[in-house]
Amino acid sequence: MLTEEEKTKIEAEIRENEQKQAACIGALKIVQAHRGWVSDEAIKDISELLDMTPDELDGIATFYSLIFRRQVGRHVILICDSVSCWIMGYENILDRLKNRLGIELGETTPDGRFTLLPVACIGLCDHAPAMIIDKDIHGDLDEEKIDDILSGYV
Ligand code: FES
Repeated sequence: MLTEEEKTKIEAEIRENEQKQAACIGALKIVQAHRGWVSDEAIKDISELLDMTPDELDGIATFYSLIFRRQVGRHVILICDSVSCWIMGYENILDRLKNRLGIELGETTPDGRFTLLPVACIGLCDHAPAMIIDKDIHGDLDEEKIDDILSGYV
């Protein structure tokens, strides 16, 4: 069930668009901002407000990699796996992250602190390899920087 606050914000988002369905990404982001992710139940509730089927909305949510359809940790690490980052050492950074966190891509640490996910180019190619944690961008990564960066997220 959507909260009154979520509904109010989604209705405001709908009013800003000529077609209800155009508010779908905004609506998904509103719910994710409140809950950290978007559950099946939330997909159903949002789709009713947008006059869409849950399957239609789920297709959009699943396509858009920054909408999380599974529960995530307190902090989400999005590591760029596109060409520039790949060339500049993505694999070493990923190995370090996996080693330090004890998880694979797509997983969440048992303490719920971090989720590690891949993402396509984040537009920081001139500072590759790069990653985003929550809303923070981290570029020019090397293995030594990883521990320091992770320690900033509790
Ligand atoms: S390829 Fe990684 S930021 Fe562009």
